[in-house]
Amino acid sequence: MINNNLLQKAIKAQELSYSPYSKVTVGAALLTAEGNIYQGSNIENSSYGATICAERTAVFNAILNGERKFKEIAITSNLDDFIFPCGMCLQVMAEFSDDLTVYISNSKGEIIEKNIKELFPFAFRL
Ligand code: THU
Repeated sequence: MINNNLLQKAIKAQELSYSPYSKVTVGAALLTAEGNIYQGSNIENSSYGATICAERTAVFNAILNGERKFKEIAITSNLDDFIFPCGMCLQVMAEFSDDLTVYISNSKGEIIEKNIKELFPFAFRL
C-alpha cells in the first residue's frame, strides 16, 4: 500500500513539471532508508535531448542531500496510462537500490505497485 504522504509529494512535484514540449507532466517522490522524501519532476529543454525525467531528478536530489539508499518511489503523471520509468531511469535507480518498490499512478488516480526487479531484472553493473 502506498503511503499517502509519498503520493501527495509526487503530485506536488508533478505540479512543478516543466514540460512545454510534450505536455506530459511527471512527478516523483523517493523515500529513503533514512525516512526522508526527495522530489523530482521532468524538466524539458528545447534541445529535447537535455530533458531529464522526474525519476532521475528525484534520485539526483537525494544523492546531493547525502542519501544513497532508497526504499520506495511514487511516480505520477497526467497520462491515462501508467507511466513506466524509462530504461535510463531504471538503470539509475538500480544503481542505488536492488529492492525498490515502485508505485505508479495514472491520471485517474489508479495505482499499481511493482518492484524494480520486475521492471528491470538485468541491470548493468560494474
Ligand atoms: N518522462 C518522465 O519524466 N518519466 C518517465 O518515466 C517517462 C517520461 C518524461 C520525459 C519527458 O519530459 C516526458 O515525460 C515525455 O516523454
